[in-house]
Amino acid sequence: MENFIFHNPTEIIFGRGTIPGISSRVDRKSRVLLLYGGGSIKKNGVYEQVRKALSGRRVVEFPGVEANPRYETCLQAVKLLKKEKLSFILAAGGGSVLDAAKFIAAAALFKGKDPWDILRTSGSNVRSALPIGAVLTLPATGSEANSNSVISREATKEKLHFSSPWVYPRFSVLDPETTYSLPVKQVRNGIVDSFAHVMEQYMTFPAGAPLQDRFAEGIVQTLVEIAPRAMDRKPDYHSRASLMWCSTLALNNLIGCGVPQDWATHMIGHELTAFYGLDHAETLAILMPGVWKFKLKTKKAKLGQFGERVFGVKGANAAIKATEEFFHSIGMPTRLSDYRISADEAAERIRARFTERKAAFGEHGDIGPGEAAKIILSRR
Ligand code: NZQ
Ligand code: ZN
Repeated sequence: MENFIFHNPTEIIFGRGTIPGISSRVDRKSRVLLLYGGGSIKKNGVYEQVRKALSGRRVVEFPGVEANPRYETCLQAVKLLKKEKLSFILAAGGGSVLDAAKFIAAAALFKGKDPWDILRTSGSNVRSALPIGAVLTLPATGSEANSNSVISREATKEKLHFSSPWVYPRFSVLDPETTYSLPVKQVRNGIVDSFAHVMEQYMTFPAGAPLQDRFAEGIVQTLVEIAPRAMDRKPDYHSRASLMWCSTLALNNLIGCGVPQDWATHMIGHELTAFYGLDHAETLAILMPGVWKFKLKTKKAKLGQFGERVFGVKGANAAIKATEEFFHSIGMPTRLSDYRISADEAAERIRARFTERKAAFGEHGDIGPGEAAKIILSRR
């Protein structure tokens, strides 16, 4: 296990009926930007609960944050925030709304000339940000308790992430009942995204960190166990609550302490979303088995351990097969052809982009433009 610093300042307020908890956590004098998406919070009662909890404060709303939030939209919100002299951002929605809040919070106080530089430098130039609170309605990204944000630029079809300790939410409200209105497809996406987050921090090589291994295996084992009930059209509180807690713990810094990490699947996946508009989780289900097969030799030991402990199968190939079967069992496709995307075209576009950026991913930094192209071609 390597040295590490564990830091997570986000307060989690978990459970049924917890939205009123916002009230005691947002100063009465705060001037609040209420950020949300395309309107799901207006249909499921979250909006009313949030407005009630914020009563007595000046609240300005900014609706319309897209799935895969756009840079262009975020800049509009920054403009509004400055005009209205707002001092606190409350994000209510899925990972996209939370990610947008983080970028807006950093961009509002950014001293540089071009806010896109926040993303170009992955956040290393962020020196401050407005405080953020969140009400999470879609368990998937872990954005509710981490310092990451992913923003898409429509004009150039780029999707880049940044990370900064300044943008951890001060608090996040996680009421599993807010997920009852989710379309089944989004629950499926959430299960796969959480699964992939765990694997990006686990499926590398043995690193003398048995507790992190067991944490990781425990989370994916739980996901596999609860998936059928969590996907049921008639929502079940306990499986939704477990899914929500799994998603948070999958990417809140805990399981990644002192261990090697991969993230190649995510980085290639962002390009598939940028070019072809696939949902984030859809890209992961296509690419992850490909990354594992491509790196079978170096990942063999962990693949074997994972297969045996999580799915009860023997050997690296059987572990990959069991994972794909699990994705299929929850209705998640795993091939580019399932979306009528040409693997040859995708491989060339992404190879060109990674060459330009001199990109190299994976726990050994050896997945460059050529390797990414080969992985994509293997998933036709
Ligand atoms: O916009 P609204 O109307 O709210 O509808 C949303 C959206 O259409 C809907 N939805 C959310 N909660 C709902 C609901 N519909 C009914 N009932 C509810 N309770 O679901 C749709 C998708 O929402 P979105 O926020 O886009 O999904 P998700 O949470 O999966 O977020 C995806 C984004 O997060 C980024 C992804 O790249 C993508 O841009 N990620 C962020 C990470 C992070 N911050 O750490 C890590 C991840 O790897 C990921 O990259
Ligand atoms: Zn993800």
